[in-house]
Amino acid sequence: EKGGYPHFMLKEIYEQAQAMKDCMRGRLLEQEKRVVLSAVTHHRERLLNAKRVIIVSCGTSWHAGLIGKQMIETFAKVPVEVEYASEFRYRNPVIDARDVVIAISQSGETADTLAAISLAKERGAFIFGIVNAVGSSIARITDTGTYIHVGPEIGVASTKAFTGQLTVLTMLALSLGKEKQTVSTTEYEEIVAELAVIPDKMERMLVFDKQIAELAKCYTYARNFIYLGRGYNFPVALEGALKLKEISYIHAEGYPAAEMKHGPIALVDAEMPVVVIATHHQLYEKTLSNIQEVKARKGRILAIVTEGDEVVKKLADNVIEVPATLACLSPLLTVIPLQLLAYHVAVMKGLDVDQPRNLAKSVTVE
Ligand code: F6R
Repeated sequence: EKGGYPHFMLKEIYEQAQAMKDCMRGRLLEQEKRVVLSAVTHHRERLLNAKRVIIVSCGTSWHAGLIGKQMIETFAKVPVEVEYASEFRYRNPVIDARDVVIAISQSGETADTLAAISLAKERGAFIFGIVNAVGSSIARITDTGTYIHVGPEIGVASTKAFTGQLTVLTMLALSLGKEKQTVSTTEYEEIVAELAVIPDKMERMLVFDKQIAELAKCYTYARNFIYLGRGYNFPVALEGALKLKEISYIHAEGYPAAEMKHGPIALVDAEMPVVVIATHHQLYEKTLSNIQEVKARKGRILAIVTEGDEVVKKLADNVIEVPATLACLSPLLTVIPLQLLAYHVAVMKGLDVDQPRNLAKSVTVE
């Protein structure tokens, strides 16, 4: 069942390129240089008239939501809020019939997410689901949606569902932007073309598996980790930290890199590994100076950089190179070494990667 892999988690990390192709099948029309989501075609008016979008989800799905927000705001020019479903449902939020609520859930059974959309629905909002499990409770109560179609995810730590969610969010942001004419044809077509080649680039990331497994040995004794990223890669820092916490039981925190100097930098010393996503995108130069600040305090840096980067290579203790891509699509690649890092650290520690303590695959209770 694990297809020759020692754990479901590793299998699912390796499956991501194929999963992404499955997710885009019939939706990304490469020849025609466009994306088509039937949910957008069928509910065009309702979606285009949204005065704002609210994304509700939990955990990894919430991290995907944070990236989705940036894409929807950039391409469709509509304000987006991202809420923890558990907070939203109890906050008596202001919602009305012109709001569109997007629920993101792998399992489709998360109790808080289900309750959040029931509440939003009662108040007249239109509910759009981004779900993996076909026919699940969340899929059934939404007004429409787009399945991520990445196949069953068995490992408790979510991996291919995250990249599938990002793929759907990208296609959604592009479709809305195209309909609203808030994204230029050039940019739209550039992103569509790049989306089509991301699975090959994901595949190329897997050559780092061995190197990351080696690296993981140096990290098994760490008590704490910091993950830094900016722009589209800030939520990836949060996701990398969550992966490490849940399966290796090492405390980790993700921050937008610029927040370091507002407190967390006090934690940095020779014992503190710092993982920095420093690809050639938004705010690269500023991230570079954050790396220097960490080095000045003797922190150990693992940097995720764009292929061919020579600058960070000189500063960091270790680097993982990712193929060049557009900023908005970079999380699809940068998250992979972070998933592998968490996996290998946990394996080195002899932990049960697929069934970490205290966690369940779907959280059907509050
Ligand atoms: C993390 C993880 C959880 C889930 C969260 C939401 O690896 O798996 O944080 O992402 O419980 O679950 P879904 O997406 O099923 O609603």
